[in-house]
Amino acid sequence: MKSEAETSSTPTVGMEDLVSLCARRGFIFQSSEIYGGINGFWDYGPLGVELKNNLKEFWWQRTVRDREDVEGIDSAIIAHPRTWEASGHVEHFADPMVDCRACKRRFRADQLDEAGHCPSRQGSSEHDFTEPRSFNLMLRTQIGASEDAASTAYLRAETCGSIFTDFKRVRDASRQKIPFGIAQIGKAFRNEINPRNFTFRSREFEQAELEFFCHPSQTEKWFEYWLERRLCFHREIGFDERRLRTRSHGADELAHYCKQAVDLEFLFPFGWKEIEGIHDRGSFDLTQHSEFSGKELSVMDEATKERFVPAVVETSAGVDRTALALLANAYEEERLEDGETRTVLHLHPVVAPIKVAVLPLSKKIGEPARKIAAELRRRWNVFYDESGNIGRRYRRQDEIGTPFCITYDFQSETDSQVTVRERDSMKQERVAESGLEAYIKSRLEEGL
Ligand code: GAP
Repeated sequence: MKSEAETSSTPTVGMEDLVSLCARRGFIFQSSEIYGGINGFWDYGPLGVELKNNLKEFWWQRTVRDREDVEGIDSAIIAHPRTWEASGHVEHFADPMVDCRACKRRFRADQLDEAGHCPSRQGSSEHDFTEPRSFNLMLRTQIGASEDAASTAYLRAETCGSIFTDFKRVRDASRQKIPFGIAQIGKAFRNEINPRNFTFRSREFEQAELEFFCHPSQTEKWFEYWLERRLCFHREIGFDERRLRTRSHGADELAHYCKQAVDLEFLFPFGWKEIEGIHDRGSFDLTQHSEFSGKELSVMDEATKERFVPAVVETSAGVDRTALALLANAYEEERLEDGETRTVLHLHPVVAPIKVAVLPLSKKIGEPARKIAAELRRRWNVFYDESGNIGRRYRRQDEIGTPFCITYDFQSETDSQVTVRERDSMKQERVAESGLEAYIKSRLEEGL
């Protein structure tokens, strides 16, 4: 693996600028901000929720709706605790932790630098740490009135748990045959010791996971296939190829259930980091759940009449991490010819929170402009703004990644044309109102 210092292209944007834009424009900010925040938890504001929903919807489109061999589910966050015993999480899902005797803070042992220095920089060398101790990452809760061991439950640490326990039900209900997949998007929780890098490592986050069930002899083929599909997805949502790479896990890094793993990494301002994992989980999951539940989860091969426990190829994406990567990928402070700087988010239209802004040149012509906005709103998320200097209104849209601004001016009243301004090139074009919707549609869908 390349070290962070060896990266070929270093992003120009710093995290402070991005974090500040996210808060100022209502993408993402601290949860419970008025109480000083709560570490590891984040809220998505009006623009953030649109961005995240667009990302999830497009994932769902490509993973579930476009295909005949994948079914979707939406399972409960809390499952029977045996689910997490069977999966090995109760026993194994832990990080080795050390306490710094100088600053009294707790760190993941693998986060100390090579010389064993304390990440807080207040402590000093390796001699100041306690021995590593195992710390389970499952978030626990109590169900019902009593607080005994029998009432302990866990908030899921990954969304795939119920995909395995629902496997037979979904297969029977949908009449799918192996190979086929089950997908789910939803919240996951991990009691991360050092949440950091904005939303990158949070305690509550969303995952978009696909578990693809196949014959154990076919896992390599499906692994390659899904890796390719996922790379294609990342290209479609507009990632700069130079900021994406794959990285195979060494045998010592593999999770307890995993036979092969490839991470998709993005070059964040804080280095190359995983945004998604593709895993060959073998037959581990269904075998474990079959054993723990006593239920038969094997299937019959129709051709050979052989019974087998399906193997699983998993694609596991972090929705928040991908959203953060999209923002970092899109952010630019562009020097303009006139010497000014404009902040622009070059978001791909498929994920952009607002697709079109309608901006009448003057309030006096607000009424026909509102009509245009109302027409377009039937299809897209449209923003309407009639106040202030037009240049400043354009800048506000650039900053949040709106691909097109439509200006209605005094001439529009007579020639029934409007000016469409494109965010990245800032080029303007006159378009007839009658063809506006078709024009915007084709421009938004370019490249998909
Ligand atoms: N079912 C397999 C699984 O959960 P993982 O590598 O532990 O695998 C998958 O997690 C993805 O979930 C990661 O690539 C990452 O994008 C996201 N993720 C994991 N922990 C996270 C955290 N603490 N904060 C934000 N995203 C996280």
